[in-house]
Amino acid sequence: MKFVATLALVIITILGSVIDGYNCKIVQFIFGDSLSDVGNNEYLPKSLAKANLPWYGIDFGNGLPNGRFTNGRTVSDIIGDDMGLPRPPAFMDPNLDEDMILNNGVNYASGGGGILNETGGYFIQRLCMYKQIELFKGTQELIARKIGKNESRKFFQEARYVVALGSNDFINNYLMPVYSDSWTYNDDSFMDYLVGTLRDQLKMLHGLGVRQLMAFGLGPMGCIPLQRVLSTSGGCQDKTNKLAKKFNDATDKMMRELSPSLSGATYKFGDAFDVVNDVIINPYRYGFTNSDSPCCSFGRIRPALTCIPASILCKDRSKYVFWDEYHPSDSANMIIAKELIKKFKFTRVNQDDNGQGAPSPAPQSGPVADGPAAADSPSASDAPSAADAPSAADTPSAADAPSANS
Ligand SMILES: *[C@@H]1O[C@H](CO)[C@@H](O)[C@H](O)[C@H]1NC(C)=O
Ligand SMILES: *[C@@H]1O[C@H](CO)[C@@H](O)[C@H](O)[C@H]1NC(C)=O
Repeated sequence: MKFVATLALVIITILGSVIDGYNCKIVQFIFGDSLSDVGNNEYLPKSLAKANLPWYGIDFGNGLPNGRFTNGRTVSDIIGDDMGLPRPPAFMDPNLDEDMILNNGVNYASGGGGILNETGGYFIQRLCMYKQIELFKGTQELIARKIGKNESRKFFQEARYVVALGSNDFINNYLMPVYSDSWTYNDDSFMDYLVGTLRDQLKMLHGLGVRQLMAFGLGPMGCIPLQRVLSTSGGCQDKTNKLAKKFNDATDKMMRELSPSLSGATYKFGDAFDVVNDVIINPYRYGFTNSDSPCCSFGRIRPALTCIPASILCKDRSKYVFWDEYHPSDSANMIIAKELIKKFKFTRVNQDDNGQGAPSPAPQSGPVADGPAAADSPSASDAPSAADAPSAADTPSAADAPSANS
């Protein structure tokens, strides 16, 4: 009797998966800036924001530059690993095809990009948020052609989404007098404009079937080494930090108000401002020895803006909060990710990874362990290897991709 019941269950389960048709894996799609870029800017020939030279990526995979603007993992890498999600390849990766997308998702993040179209114009080429959404639409069309409209809708509704932009809208726009936004707006009107634009973008994503989304807030960006060199004391720029806090509060409020109108969706906001601020004030308490200058630095010539082969590296990369003038190190990203994981209360996905349904992971180029910096952080060891070196053939219609959008 019991056996019959079990058998029936098995049959139903099998039938269930047959009826389900294409058994899609849960993957993630990432919209962001240099804090999440995994190589898009490398393929923008005219972009001035690139992480394509040593010593970027020194603690990731084979240690060569991989497009990430840090020595190791990004915050999204760490959070995605924790959730059991594959690491999505850069949209601009010439190897990107439908199978890669179905197995790994896509990362549209682009160094220098912002919520606003005009942000980062001085980098010449970057993908702003609206452009990233356009590319996402193209991705959806590609997948719908491959697996059918209904399955495609399901695939994109089940996927997880990250939206992590905003720093550049301040650092490489509003706070720089070369940009017209700096004299067109004041703090309040700029905040309304920026957060209002983000609201429109989130609504647009919902219209495209995005259901499970987390938006990351800003850290104390007035404390990045580049901002500190602006003050004679070398201290944090208080005005900049206040703007970051204000953006976080306004975005949190906007998303709380917006959420009820987004049917069937869970859109969450979280930031790690307070923790990072505490790390910067009390680095030793968190195992850091330096929280005010970049680990990769061009000697006394500062700011050097990017890390270059002639730069000198700090002795212990895991003990520096900042990797370069703008970006946190792998160890700092670990702390930021942990805080966000706590705030978002994520549940793991793809637990049946080894089951029949889930397609096999993207090929790997070798041991993609995270390097020394990550090695001594507590949970780096259980991080899955990165799907950062996919080698599929057959290029998709990435051809319609970005030319300069400034
Ligand atoms: C922003 O850029 C997108 C294309 O990337 C364009 O469709 C849109 O009209 C632009 N919006 C504004 C306000 O300029
Ligand atoms: C897609 O879904 C619609 C409505 O849910 C249904 O009527 C239609 O038959 C489905 N099409 C395919 C090809 O499964």
